[in-house]
Amino acid sequence: MDFFPESFNIILDPSKLPKHVAIIMDGNGRWAKSKGLPRIYGHKKGAEVAKNIIYKTRELNIPYLTLFAFSKENWLRPKEEIETLLGLLKYYLETEFEEIKKNEIKFKVIGNKDDFPEELKKQLNMVEKETEKNDKMVLCMALSYGGRAEIIEAVKKLAFQIKENKISAEEIDEMLFRKFLYTYDIPDPDLLIRTSGELRISNFLLFQLAYTEFYFTPVYWPDFNEEEYLKALYSYQQRERRFGRIYGS
Ligand code: IPE
Ligand code: IPE
Ligand code: MG
Repeated sequence: MDFFPESFNIILDPSKLPKHVAIIMDGNGRWAKSKGLPRIYGHKKGAEVAKNIIYKTRELNIPYLTLFAFSKENWLRPKEEIETLLGLLKYYLETEFEEIKKNEIKFKVIGNKDDFPEELKKQLNMVEKETEKNDKMVLCMALSYGGRAEIIEAVKKLAFQIKENKISAEEIDEMLFRKFLYTYDIPDPDLLIRTSGELRISNFLLFQLAYTEFYFTPVYWPDFNEEEYLKALYSYQQRERRFGRIYGS
């Protein structure tokens, strides 16, 4: 983890910003607990933070933002907590719809929309459809998302195509395989941020994170703000990405 002195003034190089930021928004429950509040208050504050970070990303002209909002494994949580999370999603889809359009943001879901109640699924499809031509930023929401499930689903689709003689096994390479992932139309993340001090990726974008730069912070998601975001971006700008090569070659 990076050390930033109290008086640190963050100046970013606009030419070296990541093209794609992915965030594991974690720590809502612990944030609430630390304040003696029920977990749902953490989710409420966390959703506000997510909204702010989305528009900040747009302002910075970062073209892709992926937010891990609900994992496939999160269905194992208590029913009331799941209902709160789905309720927040529905609320923000409604209240932010106009602002998303105004900002020319394209909304995209990765994960299994079929796992959601019919009404919410319809709403997600509608927002995707209504924003599909927007090209200033892609807001990708990982909902009922699991990295392993995504890879297995891709393999299954590929196998069916072979069975139907649409492609041959010899043709399979990385480029072709990527076409079967949820993220077929977005580049790999350059920077992954995880809040709350956990040092793991919890089944997020397993294939896509191969050469991503990681930034972990102990800050709980509801306390994450513009300054914390700029620190993460600053940290990214100090990295030397090599992709297996020797620097400068
Ligand atoms: C992240 O916060 C939100 C979701 C996973 C939906 P958590 O709810 O995981 O909060 P902690 O990790 O229990 O503190
Ligand atoms: C990862 O957080 C999923 C989201 C942020 C939506 P979790 O809180 O579910 O992850 P674990 O259980 O701590 O690994
Ligand atoms: Mg958590």
